[in-house]
Amino acid sequence: MAKMIINGQKVNAVQGGLLDVVSPIDGKVFTEIPRGQREDVDLAVKAARQSLSSDWGNFDPLGRSRLMLELGVAILENLDELADLEMKDTGKPLATARADITVLARYFEYYGGAADKVLGQVIPYLNDYSVQVIREPLGVTAHIIPWNYPAQMFGRSVAPSLAMGNACVVKPAEDACLSIVRVAELALEVGFPAGALNVVTGLGEEAGASLAEHPDINFISFTGSNQVGVFIQQAAAKHAVKCVLELGGKSAHVVFEDAKFGPAIAAIVKGIVHNTGQTCTAGSRLLLQASIYDEFMQELGKEFSKTRAGTPEMDLTCGPVINKNQFDRVNGYIEKGIAQNLKVVAQGQIADGVPADGYFVTPTLFSAPDHTSELLTEEIFGPVLVAVPFKDEEEAIALANATDYGLLGAVWTENGGRQMRMAKGIQAGQVYINGFGAGGGIELPFGGVKRSGHGREKGLVALEEMSTTKTIVLFHGK
Ligand code: NAI
Ligand code: MG
Repeated sequence: MAKMIINGQKVNAVQGGLLDVVSPIDGKVFTEIPRGQREDVDLAVKAARQSLSSDWGNFDPLGRSRLMLELGVAILENLDELADLEMKDTGKPLATARADITVLARYFEYYGGAADKVLGQVIPYLNDYSVQVIREPLGVTAHIIPWNYPAQMFGRSVAPSLAMGNACVVKPAEDACLSIVRVAELALEVGFPAGALNVVTGLGEEAGASLAEHPDINFISFTGSNQVGVFIQQAAAKHAVKCVLELGGKSAHVVFEDAKFGPAIAAIVKGIVHNTGQTCTAGSRLLLQASIYDEFMQELGKEFSKTRAGTPEMDLTCGPVINKNQFDRVNGYIEKGIAQNLKVVAQGQIADGVPADGYFVTPTLFSAPDHTSELLTEEIFGPVLVAVPFKDEEEAIALANATDYGLLGAVWTENGGRQMRMAKGIQAGQVYINGFGAGGGIELPFGGVKRSGHGREKGLVALEEMSTTKTIVLFHGK
């Protein structure tokens, strides 16, 4: 059974509560985790604060860099075990789980390598002054992690923070936290001092809310639903701390008549079915130029119908969705689409032999006559793609922007001018041209506009988000 990591110790919750962890593969309880509450969060925040004025705070950038790189190595050395935990927790195909753990290691390599390369500035000012701007950590950073990519999201949120010398308190999702707990243990094993990295498991409304509302944190990073994101921002506002919010999307592929069909179709299918559609950047809308609509949908449908949902060991296109709530939610959208007379163009299959009580859903490709259905504006978070036709560039931009979200977009066209006009016209934090990198490389600045949230993660810009400047002004006379 997993334990929490607080102040360098593996501990149970103070009150001793436990939560069942249910496997999405068969709907059965397979382990328990501590049910952390307010007092556990408080201990973790105290430990983090304490570490900043002792061991962890005394590390210089090179020391932080070396430890982070060592953790990257330890993650790769334990890849089999970590991928196995991730697979059991989420039901992902084994290949996907292994790829995710490799990305987790990459976060520690990338930000570990950057920890000692964050430069300050010298600013030309009046002749009798010298001015320098240095970067400082924010202090205690809180990280509330979702269940869709536990390991990757942990790396994305925590690695840049540690690189900048902050101390972290992490609240992983109650549905999937085992890989995160194990990585925090590995961090202790490679020499991270007590309190630098704490993990409090538990429910969102208990441990999560207590962490977000804690008066002694200096920053919150949150990825998850819009509803909880708004709560997080309100909690942050009470203590005037900054938050970075990534609240999902309704990202569109925009395919013009001059696009190369083959690569577009491969990317579109993968972009919605990978991770069972439980990806913030899933390409969940398809805007297709009317002149190629029927022909393209026919070819897309052929590929889409080859998708298979199965157990991790079957290693098919995708696994189950995470829990009963999501299972009901995704199936509810599919039923709503059918009730609204959207045309089912193609469906994948749930593989034979999956456990009857697993949360497997049928990948579904819909065609809609116009952009009015809520299947085209709301985040479904499942393998459900809805296509809709457009006439020209102007309408394509209008439809691409016709949701509250703004996380990502993709444009498929060989026309160079159109590529850039579309890239500039689409309201999103990332736009791909003739490709689709759901989530993208970790080197690429990432985040939303509109209701997809604010702040940027990944790339070097994350180091700025997770630190602050201090301007030191020296008067020395002429
Ligand atoms: P959620 O937003 O409730 O959960 C995400 C994280 O927030 C978890 O760690 C959870 O424990 C925590 N949390 C929940 N309530 C909290 C609170 N009051 N205070 C602090 N932390 C809290 O997401 P949920 O309900 O599991 O999924 C619902 C929908 O949210 C999904 O269908 C999807 O649309 C969206 N979502 C988006 C994600 C993304 O990557 N952008 C990830 C997960 C969910
Ligand atoms: Mg929720």
